[in-house]
Amino acid sequence: MQTRRAFIGQTTAALAFAGSAQRTAAASHAPRTLTAQHATVQLAPSDYPATRIWGYDGSLPGPLIRLPQGGRLQRQLVNALDQATSVHWHGIRIDNAMDGVPGLTQQAVAPGESFDVNFVVPDAGTYWYHAHERSWEQVARGLYGALIVEETEGPDVDREEVLILDDWRLDPETAQIATDFTNAHDRSHAGRLGNFITTNGTSEYTVKVRQNERLRLRLINASNARIFELGLAGMEGWVVALDGMPLVAPQLASDTLMLGPGQRADLLVDVTAETGETAHLVHFDGEGYSQVEFQVTGVAKTTRRAAPPPLPPNHHPEGPDLVAARRLRLVMSGGAMGRMQSAVLDGERRSFRDLAALGQFWSFNDMVGMTETPLADLSRNEPVRIEIVNETAFPHAMHLHGTHFREVRDGALTGPMRDTLMVFRGETREIAFVADNPGDWMFHCHMLTHAASGMMTWLRVS
Ligand code: C2O
Ligand code: CU
Ligand code: CU
Repeated sequence: MQTRRAFIGQTTAALAFAGSAQRTAAASHAPRTLTAQHATVQLAPSDYPATRIWGYDGSLPGPLIRLPQGGRLQRQLVNALDQATSVHWHGIRIDNAMDGVPGLTQQAVAPGESFDVNFVVPDAGTYWYHAHERSWEQVARGLYGALIVEETEGPDVDREEVLILDDWRLDPETAQIATDFTNAHDRSHAGRLGNFITTNGTSEYTVKVRQNERLRLRLINASNARIFELGLAGMEGWVVALDGMPLVAPQLASDTLMLGPGQRADLLVDVTAETGETAHLVHFDGEGYSQVEFQVTGVAKTTRRAAPPPLPPNHHPEGPDLVAARRLRLVMSGGAMGRMQSAVLDGERRSFRDLAALGQFWSFNDMVGMTETPLADLSRNEPVRIEIVNETAFPHAMHLHGTHFREVRDGALTGPMRDTLMVFRGETREIAFVADNPGDWMFHCHMLTHAASGMMTWLRVS
């Protein structure tokens, strides 16, 4: 029998070997891999069984990818799953060929195959990457990670925490992921909501801090459908960026912060709780729950810092010119308790009932799912406005690939730049942007079961 000591000795040798293999790879400029694979992690508390997930490099979340602004991301996506996959870099003004949307920008990566990712990150901020093939299943199984692009001169903070929030549907006995991914109720209602909430792959994420330390919290909502309502306890601070983009002025984080699926927020917070106390990132769902615990182990300084200046801006094109802008309209219909009678799927008009039998429940402008022709064919640098009309009984997280947009209210551009906008039932909202990034870009609901059951379209920028 192998003794523990011998086993450790062997492991060390194996690691040393792996290390030298890696150095050889680096010397020959082979890109680092990012492997979509099966893994087992302790997702639920330790008295539960471990959970089988799919994760990048077998970890949950996937490896944290950090680059300086203007840096180049080079990775080889390797598919070790037994179904096709792809990786999408959410929120990045990316080269279209790298956007990772099978059927639109590339072919899905078959099992055993790979795809070379290579692009420059133009904007600083908090982004994320996730599977974009069968995303309602692959993201729900854990295929996501954070992509952090650092400012040349970042804010003055003592520490930074990247916090990826997720909710899971686990079997309460076995702690395995429920495989009802095509559940018609989820598809036709509020999406796949879970029964188990995690931060960075655990329900017990804890950070040790000291009083009057300033932290940068980078929040990412990776869940399929959950809208997180968040607050602070024992900490005070400011929202300084949304969806990666710096706010013109830091906003006091006094109200609750809503983070829809796919959305991000950067906060600068000061620990105001005292030694021995615990501060919290609070998640409200009827009552308040601790999403992350910050244990205060001492005092960093006796007073708080002064209010922070805004983060340095990213250099997006000016605009758009709202008067000259092409005006588009996107009417969202369908779902349970909706008014949709029929819609067109693959060129054929079908009754709501027939669509439901095919697992399809939603339409954009009367069309279910992806169409042959785009919602609009835009010329490069054309200003665009899209009015989004939510005729359904549910909220939707509308996400545009390839660029950020702003909202139009009362005829003027308002609010921050975003890549994902929550549109609640009965609401009409309008977004505007300059179509400066050539390619075919998806525009879809980030409630991933909604996207799978009709809520996707695309724009072409020629
Ligand atoms: Cu974050 Cu099309 O996705
Ligand atoms: Cu995206
Ligand atoms: Cu939706």
